Amino acid sequence: MKYQRIKGTVDILPSETGKWIYLEEIIRNVMARFNYKEIRVPMFEATELFARGIGEGTDIVNKEMYTFTDQGSRSITLRPEATASVVRCYIEESLGKKAPLTKVYYIGPMFRQEKPQKGRQRQFHQFGAEALGSADPRIDAEIIAVSVQVLKDCGINQYEVALNSVATPQVRAKHREKLLEFVRPIASQFPEVDREKIDRNPLRLFDSKLELTQQLLQGAPLLEEFYDDEVRRDFDIVKETLTRLGIPYASDPRLVRGLDYYTRTAFEIRSPLLGAQDSLSGGGRYDLLVEELGGDPTPAVGFAAGMERTLIVMEAIGKSDYGEKPLDVFVIGESEAERKQALLLAKQLRDSGKTVDLDYLARSQKAQMKEASRQNARFALFVFADDIPGGRFQLKNLASGDQQTLSVDEIIKSIKFPASSGSPS
Ligand code: HAM
Repeated sequence: MKYQRIKGTVDILPSETGKWIYLEEIIRNVMARFNYKEIRVPMFEATELFARGIGEGTDIVNKEMYTFTDQGSRSITLRPEATASVVRCYIEESLGKKAPLTKVYYIGPMFRQEKPQKGRQRQFHQFGAEALGSADPRIDAEIIAVSVQVLKDCGINQYEVALNSVATPQVRAKHREKLLEFVRPIASQFPEVDREKIDRNPLRLFDSKLELTQQLLQGAPLLEEFYDDEVRRDFDIVKETLTRLGIPYASDPRLVRGLDYYTRTAFEIRSPLLGAQDSLSGGGRYDLLVEELGGDPTPAVGFAAGMERTLIVMEAIGKSDYGEKPLDVFVIGESEAERKQALLLAKQLRDSGKTVDLDYLARSQKAQMKEASRQNARFALFVFADDIPGGRFQLKNLASGDQQTLSVDEIIKSIKFPASSGSPS
């Protein structure tokens, strides 16, 4: 029996984790600069939380959740996203009573049973931020700024911020009525996948990737025609703040998100370097979700971005330096006595904070030298039996070829700055 990973899951190999750690460090750094604190919520929750939170009519809830019954006959779902869980935690832990504005971020795996393709997996990773407690549209702009800043710090300068306001349920109800008047008489002409949206949520028609649907929608009433003064004012403040912050955006009156909880601001950040799955990040305001899930009415806004997609774009722009720490020293000894001494030297160097490796495969001195080069070690430390009594060993700088005979203390002092990797002084 040969086991294989489950379709839509990916092994992140040791040669790739450096990129992930690099990205995670950028995320943590940006979040700290904007004063968001990390929150770690469980990987699974009661199914009901996601059904209510994300919306019964969404593809995520209807088709994509990994739901199972546990040994206690409870319906459990692997989280398809983290906003519902963060809100559940916010209510359960009364976070709103501990601080007037709660700003949190998360990094971690999410699970959706979608058709796998480039940039789309069944276990994928998101980072995201949520700000709960403020209705100020300027924090909507901050959330977008956080998402953009991570991209910038990753070296990604080519992206588009698509912005819309999905208004309020009252505004949407008025629009829905007029949209249905427009769509119903031509309902039979819509492609089958989109036809079912007419009764469930006709606004989602605008999100269709099918040409025919978009053609049929020509001249259909747009949501923005129904905005009330408050919705329009909030949307204007978001736009004005983005301009003030130097973040270019494009209004996209057809932008509809795949989750039901959004009110007012909704946005997506897209990259032309991604294929069909071009959305790097998405989010918006969800002023009714806390109440919907049993908490006090609390305005909130947030975003989540795909980490695989961010890494795909970084690779596409040719990024290759992920700041991985090189191996400082490979300690080389061949005879039994030399190997014992090598082990001791490795311990002393590691105790002093150096990154060190040595041979466990009974290789010859020459093969160990090769291994040191293969691992791009900065230095090789040779242990010769004759040097053991004097306690001074030969340290070779593998970049310059310089070699010096040094005591352990001198070795530790000379291997200081990985960046310079100059010859031992
Ligand atoms: P979402 O648009 O469903 O929003 O997902 C956000 C991002 O996660 C997408 O833009 C994409 O980069 C990535 N993503 C989604 N599905 C997959 C997949 N199957 N494979 C790879 N990447 C994927 C949310 O999840 C909301 N919780 C965002 C939010 C937070 N809204 C308010 N707060």
